[in-house]
Amino acid sequence: MAGLRWARVTVLNDNTTLFIDGLLAEYGFAAAVEVELENGDRSLILYDTGQTGRPLLHNMDVLGFRPGEFDYLVLSHRHVDHTGGVKAFLEARGKPIPVVAHPALFEPSLAMVGGRLYEIGFPLSPERLQSLGGRLVASARPLQLLPGVVFSGEVPSKWGPRHTKLVYKPTPEGVVEDEMRDDTFLALRVGGRVYILTGCGHAGVENMVGHALEVTGAEELGGVIGGLHLFGASRERMEEIAGFLASRKPRLVAGLHCTGPFAQPVLKSVLGDAYRYGGTGSRFDLA
Ligand SMILES: [Fe+2]
Ligand SMILES: [Fe+2]
Repeated sequence: MAGLRWARVTVLNDNTTLFIDGLLAEYGFAAAVEVELENGDRSLILYDTGQTGRPLLHNMDVLGFRPGEFDYLVLSHRHVDHTGGVKAFLEARGKPIPVVAHPALFEPSLAMVGGRLYEIGFPLSPERLQSLGGRLVASARPLQLLPGVVFSGEVPSKWGPRHTKLVYKPTPEGVVEDEMRDDTFLALRVGGRVYILTGCGHAGVENMVGHALEVTGAEELGGVIGGLHLFGASRERMEEIAGFLASRKPRLVAGLHCTGPFAQPVLKSVLGDAYRYGGTGSRFDLA
């Protein structure tokens, strides 16, 4: 597969802000992905939308992005902290856009917080998404959006555990643990390296890396940016992930959003300069 000349990821919504820059934070994730293809064409992708859309639209304005200029909306998975801003984004945009997601986008989803179950699924019906201008492209298979840009589709559990702590779904037999088959990532191939942009990382780090190398044919892992869902992970699991990533010699790892405050120092201590702290407004240039 051909690679990109360059790519840049700008975090439009994260749990935290980093500077006195007027940006807003909310528990959730969204990023703008600018890419330049080998033929010089450029494209702009919105990856996730945060929880309410208010920080998303405000931060787009501050950071110089307009809702109408995006070519694709890609949704990492159905959780509302990634998809709750879809309605506000589509309304602000006012014209159709392809919405790339796993076919299980509309399945109900639950989370256990403080011993109580909360509904955290995708907040729009298929009809409402369509009427707002969302043109759903649902794929459980890997999908090449552009040369060097691949939507992962469903991520097989061939390489390691999934990260699904406290995540459930209702079934006719009752509430069961949700293995989050709908959790996907965006693979960006720059030269011989692949970078992974992930929303919550429910599919598991080892699985995302293995799948990204397979679907792009890249020889090396360039890096991982986004949520790694390590809030409730054991110290051993954090060290295992840090060691796994370090063994791949990535140029850049930035654990955002649900990576959580406890895993960050572990990742930093093992990955050293390759690990970057980030938050709303962070820019990552991929080369
Ligand atoms: Fe999340
Ligand atoms: Fe999630």
